[in-house]
Amino acid sequence: MEKVVSGIRSTGNLHLGNYYGALSNFVKMQHEHECYFFIADYHSLTTYPNPEDLHGNVRQILSEYLAAGIDPDAATLYIQSDLPEIPELYLLLNMNAYVGELERTTSFKEKVRSQPNNVNAGLLTYPVLMAADIIVHHASKVPVGKDQEQHLEMTRRFARRFNNMYQQEYFPEPEPYNFGQELLKVPGLDGSGKMGKTEGNAIFLADEPKVIRKKVMKAVTDAGPTEYNQEMAEPIQNIFTLMKIVSHAETYDYYLDQYNNCKIRYGDMKKQLAGDIIDFTEPLREKIKSISSDDPYLKKVVKKGRDKARASAAQTIKDVRRIIGIEAF
Ligand code: TYM
Repeated sequence: MEKVVSGIRSTGNLHLGNYYGALSNFVKMQHEHECYFFIADYHSLTTYPNPEDLHGNVRQILSEYLAAGIDPDAATLYIQSDLPEIPELYLLLNMNAYVGELERTTSFKEKVRSQPNNVNAGLLTYPVLMAADIIVHHASKVPVGKDQEQHLEMTRRFARRFNNMYQQEYFPEPEPYNFGQELLKVPGLDGSGKMGKTEGNAIFLADEPKVIRKKVMKAVTDAGPTEYNQEMAEPIQNIFTLMKIVSHAETYDYYLDQYNNCKIRYGDMKKQLAGDIIDFTEPLREKIKSISSDDPYLKKVVKKGRDKARASAAQTIKDVRRIIGIEAF
């Protein structure tokens, strides 16, 4: 059975990008593979942490994983900071990660631009921590969205470097995975780029219907097509992409036809899209609420996940220490 690892940072509620880019695939993979899904709370510390928010965010994401259909009896669901093996492997991998390659990472360069007053070493070595998360369980598949592609490339490079350095085929080289399809990039509602937590363009799974309606109705559009089969501007493409992901194929085809025939009314299309998002998120929202208030259940899930994940990670650390030459007296 192949091993699968993936994680989501604990920086706030999950949005449609997280769900369609990653979480929905976790749910689909959990019965076919040996799956390790976690909440990346260490990774969330790279951007101005707030102790009060951190625990609440972990609880929220944990509840969202469960509400979306992760079965803690099938997959191993755990919290990153519950595994001391991860920071140990991170430290060891850091010895073979070069500052130059880390500085060239797109996500690092973006952070240097967006938070110039807090360019910390955790940001620089973010891909190394991610590699440790993945290879600590010997994963071969990593279900992620398009934005994580470069991080996976670096994970493969660190795994390969370790193997070459110690002349052992120890770590597999994990691949990003989306059932043989291109990795997904769910667009935001602001006309360009991807949906993201910090971009202010996201629809969250926990958003109330009226909030969803308001956000969708405000999505950027244009004056409308004037020629048959006119090429779409990016904001319009983005609304169509969202509709393709969320709505029925017939609905998508109907609006595409309306666009191509210059009959499209963006207001109607947005109403339809908002309604489809609400239909999908409404049952989830209720489940998230009830799960997040069930402390004994969450405690049980976290303990079970921690025990299973640690058993797998502890074996890796034992092997790695031996390979490197760290021996007990
Ligand atoms: P994070 O928390 O930003 O996002 C979690 C997952 O959601 C996907 N995603 C998207 N997919 C498509 N369209 C979007 N607009 C969109 N926005 C987010 C992300 O690609 C990701 O799969 N570094 C990771 C967390 C992490 C991790 C790992 C993932 C830490 N260690 C090990 C996999 C394996 C992150 O920041 O994801």
